[in-house]
Amino acid sequence: MGASREPAGTSKRPPPRGDLEEIELSLLLEGIFRKYGFDFRQYAAASLRRRVWRRVYAEGLATISALQDRLLHDPACMERLLLDLSINVTAMFRDPTFYVAFREKVVPALRTYPFTRIWVAGCSTGEEVYSLAILLQEEELYDRTRIYATDINESVLERARAGVFPLDKMQEYTQNYIRAGGTQAFSEYYVAKYDGAQFQRSLIENIVFAQHNLVSDRSFNEFNVIICRNVMIYFDRTLQDRVHRLFYESLITFGVLGLGHKESIRFSPHEEGYEELDPNEKLYRRVA
Ligand SMILES: C[S@@+](CC[C@H](N)C(=O)[O-])C[C@H]1O[C@@H](n2cnc3c(N)ncnc32)[C@H](O)[C@@H]1O
Repeated sequence: MGASREPAGTSKRPPPRGDLEEIELSLLLEGIFRKYGFDFRQYAAASLRRRVWRRVYAEGLATISALQDRLLHDPACMERLLLDLSINVTAMFRDPTFYVAFREKVVPALRTYPFTRIWVAGCSTGEEVYSLAILLQEEELYDRTRIYATDINESVLERARAGVFPLDKMQEYTQNYIRAGGTQAFSEYYVAKYDGAQFQRSLIENIVFAQHNLVSDRSFNEFNVIICRNVMIYFDRTLQDRVHRLFYESLITFGVLGLGHKESIRFSPHEEGYEELDPNEKLYRRVA
């Protein structure tokens, strides 16, 4: 989705931090993990706390314990919290310079393989993976590529499969596409349907959308490229290290890792295993 979902009651601030709140929050996260398997126990604390309180107020409740009670008995409430916690903001050709670097520095390497496998982890509603499919189609690589697009959240994946994005975003996305090095008429990739833009179904022919939790699920490996942008910023250090291990183990030698502008492999346990392909665009190549 183009914009984050702001639940009702967002204007209310969380109360001052207290010992009891810490207990309630950790019980809530433990409960979510045990009942639903989603592990938010190591998400960055400040933003997690803010989002949980937002959901407490949006549900018309007064305490985190009350939210825990509702969540454990009502999966729909869990779904709502999931949307709050997993900030789904995304865009087509987001950070266009990333795609320019991808065309210049990753595409030539991909041409050397008869077939390539790409994992887009934390793909949200799909704008990023459709952008990648367009780029690969233009580079005549799409037919020999399989893309695995995953996210923790099934409801965003459903939207990704549908491939309908807000029509009023198309002007911005067209600009992004051009700045990303696109040379075709962007409007040829979609047809307008009411207030949505339905993207060509051929763009998802080689994409498998699947639910995958970076915190608790194992890798499926042997990828030539892994793109995981603007996901790890929400994780604490321990969790980032775990995900870095997962990616390192899932990449082939000389495979490429693409992160978000605010993310890096620096100071991760696998820093030595990569060389910088484009430090500004956070593109790294596994070398060891
Ligand atoms: C801000 S969006 C980034 C979307 C896209 N990668 C981009 O850069 O535009 C973050 C996505 O990460 C997903 N996410 C959060 N925690 C996750 C986890 N543990 N495993 C898999 N995906 C997760 C969220 O559901 C959300 O769709």
